[in-house]
Amino acid sequence: MPKPTVLVTGAGGQLGSVLVSALAKKHGPENICATDVREIHLPLVRTGILDVTDKDAVSTYIKDNGINRIYHLAAILSARGESNPILTWNINTGGWLNILEASRELKVERLFFPSTIGVFGPTTPKKNTPQDTILQPTTVYGISKQIGENWGLYYFNRYGLDVRSLRYPGLISYDTPPGGGTTDYAIDIFHKAVKGESFTCFLREDTELPMMYMDDAVRATLELMEADKEKLSVRTSYNLSAMSFSPRDLFDAIKNRIPEFSITYEPDFRQSIADSWVNSVNDSRAREDWAWKPEYGMEELVNIMLDNL
Ligand code: SER
Repeated sequence: MPKPTVLVTGAGGQLGSVLVSALAKKHGPENICATDVREIHLPLVRTGILDVTDKDAVSTYIKDNGINRIYHLAAILSARGESNPILTWNINTGGWLNILEASRELKVERLFFPSTIGVFGPTTPKKNTPQDTILQPTTVYGISKQIGENWGLYYFNRYGLDVRSLRYPGLISYDTPPGGGTTDYAIDIFHKAVKGESFTCFLREDTELPMMYMDDAVRATLELMEADKEKLSVRTSYNLSAMSFSPRDLFDAIKNRIPEFSITYEPDFRQSIADSWVNSVNDSRAREDWAWKPEYGMEELVNIMLDNL
């Protein structure tokens, strides 16, 4: 099999730079085109500026670089999205439609679309949330991702475009900073803990959310993208799960290692976003279809974060 030529959009984000280096390892750095709306510096791979809201620029980039596989990560996350709903819609949905249309026209072989627990809403069952369930998200980010999942399904059914997608939990990493998410507290808390500072949490102590260590998320992404087409029964987006915890659970686990660590809770507007999401996700379809299995639980996560920051 010849190596694919891969475009990553939004490569400067929290997931992007880690995914780019995993893709470079897998397919060779010369075959990876890492782009963002701003200039980025990532070692070895080809880098470029690409504004996904510019359809002509997207098509030209795909053509000029002979792209046949796309990981479309460019998006505004949940909390930041609320400060500019129309811009978030234009980037998240308009950008995705540009990628889908250009991919259809230029016959891109395979696409990855990151979805999220943000597609769930207050009417979704909160525990062990099923794959096929009620989706009435409250944030513009959630709406854009829910619609994005359905556009992916539409292009798959109508044009045979091979679109694959995961509903990521909150992603936690030590080497890349998060940007504008509701789950970001679970990264910020570690930075404060290792600096010996107290942490002020913007969520209530009992707010339980699904979370995942970055390495699991990257491996899930690569595994889904390598899976046999015939095995994939979900063409909206796969539920994906590793662990669930509340700020209190995480604080207690960190305090076990750093006894002097302290926390206060000052919930802000992000509390209502978190309250609209679910506590835990049933990912049995991912496990059945392409043998997904997480490797990291909360204890491993806490140790890795504290050891590496
Ligand atoms: N981590 C994301 C956010 O909080 C959820 O997809 O917005």
